[in-house]
Amino acid sequence: MVLPEEQARLFRPRPELLPAAHVPSLAHYQRLYQRSVEEPHEFWGDIAKEFYWKSQHTGPFLKYNFDVTKGKIFIEWMKGATTNICYNLLDRNVNEKKLGDKIAFYWEGNEPGDSVKITYRELLHRVCQFANVLHSQGVRKGDRVSIYLPMILELVVAMLACARIGALHSIVFAGFSADSLCERILDCGCSLLVTADAFYRGDKLVNLKQIADEALQKCKARGSPLKRCIVVKHLGREEIVDETCSKSPPPKRLCQEVQEKKTESSQKLHPKPPWDPAVDVWWHEQMSRASTECEPEWCDAEDGLFILYTSGSTGKPKGVLHTVGGYMLYAATSFKYVFDYQPEDVYWCTADIGWITGHSYLTYGPLANGATSVLFEGVPTYPDVGRMWSIVDKYKVTKFYTAPTAIRLLMKHGEEPVQKHSRKSLKVLGSVGEPINPEAWLWYYRVVGEERCPIVDTFWQTETGGHMLTPLPAATPMKPGSATLPFFGVVPAILNESGEELEGEAEGYLVFKQPWPGIMRSLYGQHQHFETTYFRKFPGYYVTGDGCRRDEDGYYWITGRIDDMLNVSGHLLSTAEVESALLEHRAVAEAAVVSHPHATKGQCLYCFVTLRDGHDFSKSLTEELRKQVRDKIGPIATPDYIQCAPSLPKTRSGKITRRILRKIATNDHDLGDISTLANPGIIKHLFNSRCDTKQ
Ligand code: PRX
Repeated sequence: MVLPEEQARLFRPRPELLPAAHVPSLAHYQRLYQRSVEEPHEFWGDIAKEFYWKSQHTGPFLKYNFDVTKGKIFIEWMKGATTNICYNLLDRNVNEKKLGDKIAFYWEGNEPGDSVKITYRELLHRVCQFANVLHSQGVRKGDRVSIYLPMILELVVAMLACARIGALHSIVFAGFSADSLCERILDCGCSLLVTADAFYRGDKLVNLKQIADEALQKCKARGSPLKRCIVVKHLGREEIVDETCSKSPPPKRLCQEVQEKKTESSQKLHPKPPWDPAVDVWWHEQMSRASTECEPEWCDAEDGLFILYTSGSTGKPKGVLHTVGGYMLYAATSFKYVFDYQPEDVYWCTADIGWITGHSYLTYGPLANGATSVLFEGVPTYPDVGRMWSIVDKYKVTKFYTAPTAIRLLMKHGEEPVQKHSRKSLKVLGSVGEPINPEAWLWYYRVVGEERCPIVDTFWQTETGGHMLTPLPAATPMKPGSATLPFFGVVPAILNESGEELEGEAEGYLVFKQPWPGIMRSLYGQHQHFETTYFRKFPGYYVTGDGCRRDEDGYYWITGRIDDMLNVSGHLLSTAEVESALLEHRAVAEAAVVSHPHATKGQCLYCFVTLRDGHDFSKSLTEELRKQVRDKIGPIATPDYIQCAPSLPKTRSGKITRRILRKIATNDHDLGDISTLANPGIIKHLFNSRCDTKQ
C-alpha cells in the first residue's frame, strides 16, 4: 500500500554518490540542460570531439524539418562527416584508451555456472573475423543482415561486425515466431541470416534453427533474395574448442536433475538442427578461417546503422531506422549520464538485445564508454526467483537496469528471495519500458536497493534511440512513478487535442519540439508512413503517442499510450493511472484496464486483475478494488467491470496487449494477428470468464 505522503515525497540523491558524479546537483543539470537545448550545435559538437571521425562534416552540424506542412520531414546531424561506430567502440578503446584487457562482457548462461568472459581486445578480434566472414559471403555496405539469436556473445559480435562493414543489422528477438521473422526479413530485403542451433530459456528448449528454417521457407516462397544462413553452434558448443575466447572452466550445470532433463529433451526434440547445405554454414567453421583484422568501412554520419522493428497501431511492424553518427553520440552520452557511469562499474541491463534497450544500453552505449557489462541468457525465475540477485552478487554489479514487469513478477514472490543475497555492490537502479507504478517503485527502492540506490525511471522509445525523460542519479530528486525531467537536448511539450501547447501543470499529448541526435530518421522504405505516424497529427512536433502529465514541479508523468487513454464523461483518463491504483491493493499482482463503450458516459473502465497467491476473487474484493480506484483517482474513475485473469495476454517482451483485452471486454472474437503473443492460450479462458456487460 502506498501512502499519499510517500507518493508526494521527494526521494533525494544520497550524498555518497555526489563527489564522483558527472552531474552532482540539480543546478548543475539545469546548466547543462539549458546549454544543450539553446546551443545544441556547441553542446553536441563538444561531445562529438570525444569520438574519432575520419573526416569532418561538410554542411551544417544540424539540419532538419519537423513540419509536414513545409515539406518532407528530415533530420541530419553532421552530414558529410565520416566515422565507424565499431571503430569507436572497439579499436579506439583497445588502442588509444588501452582498455584491451578490460572485460567487455561477462556472459552468464541460462544454467548457473555456465559463464564466459570476453575482453575488449578479444571482442575486437572476433568482430573483425566475423566482418571478414560477412565480406566473404558477399555482404557489402548498405546491405541488410537479419540476426535471430539468443542472448549470447555471438549476437554482439554479429551486430558490431555489420556496423564495421557498413551493413545494417535487423535484429529479430529470438522469441518471435517464424512468421514474424519472415515478415521482417522480407520487409527490409535481408540478404543473410545469422541464427543458432537452439537454446534454453529457463527449462524451455527453443529449437531456433527449426523456426528460422520455417521462416526461410516462407521467405523463399515469397521471392526473398536471402541465400545464406550462418548458424552458431550454441547448445552443442562444448564440442568446439575456441581459442580466441578465455572460457572459464567447462560449464558446470546447476544440478543433475536439470542436466538430465535438458539432455533428454534435447535428444528427444532436437537431435540435430535441420540443415540445407546449399544455404547453411556453421559460424565456427567460417570463423576459424577468417583473419582477426578488418579495415572498418568509413560511413557517413547519416548512413544507416540498423533497422529495428516495433509494433504499430495498424498491427504491421514498423522498421525504425537509426543512423551512425547521431545514434552513437546519443547512446554513449545518455549511458554515461543516466547511469552515472564510472570506470570501475559492472553494469547489467537485463533487456534482450532484440529490443531497443538491448541495442542502446547493452551494446552501443556501454561499449562506447569502455564499460564492463553482464550479458545474461536466462530468465529471472530460473532456476529460482533469486537468480537476478545471485548474478548481482556474483559479478558485483553496480548499476542494474530492468523493466517494471520483472520487478512486479519478483515482488509477487516476496522479499525473502531478494534478502537472501547481499546486493551491497548496487549503486543505481533503472527502470524502462512502461510506467512503473509507485508500489513497484517503492519495493524496488526499499527491498532491492535498501534505500541506498536512486532509481532512474527512463522514458523513451525504439524511435527515440535513447532516454528522453529521466532522472540523473546524483542530481534529480525522484518521485515514485515519474520519469521526472528531460535529458540533454530534449524539449518536451504537452499539447491538447487542438495542438495547443499547455503551460505549467497540464495533461495531454507528449511531443518533442526539436530533434536530438538519437531520433530515428525514417521507417525503412516507408518514409511517408514515418511522416504520418509521428509528424502529421501536430505539425512541427515529434508525436510520441503517449499521454503525459506535468506536475507543479515541472515533473513529467507518463500516463500510458494515447490509445490507452479513455474519455469518461468528458474527462481524459489514462488506463495506466487506474492500473496503478489497482496495483496498490495488496491482493493485486497485475492489472490491465481497457475502455468499454458506455451508453451515457461514452466510455467506462473494464479491468482485468491477476491476484497474488493466497487471495480469492470475491464480490467483497471487487468492491474493495472499486473503492480503491475511486479513492485514489476520483469517482469518475470507478471501474464498471472487474474480471479476474489468471494471467494477462502479453507480447514476448512482457508488454500487456491491451488491444486483445479490449476485444475480450467487448466480446469481439475478431482478434487479428496473435502470433506475437507469448501466451495465446489464456485468451479462450478470458473470453469464457468475461463479466456480463449487458447491464
Ligand atoms: O509508452 C511508452 C512506454 O514504452 C513505449 C516505447 O516502447 P518501445 O518502443 O518498445 O521501447 C521500450 C524501451 C524504451 C513508450 O512510448 N515506456 C517506455 N519507457 C517508459 C514507458 N512508459 C512510462 N515510463 C517509462 N519509463
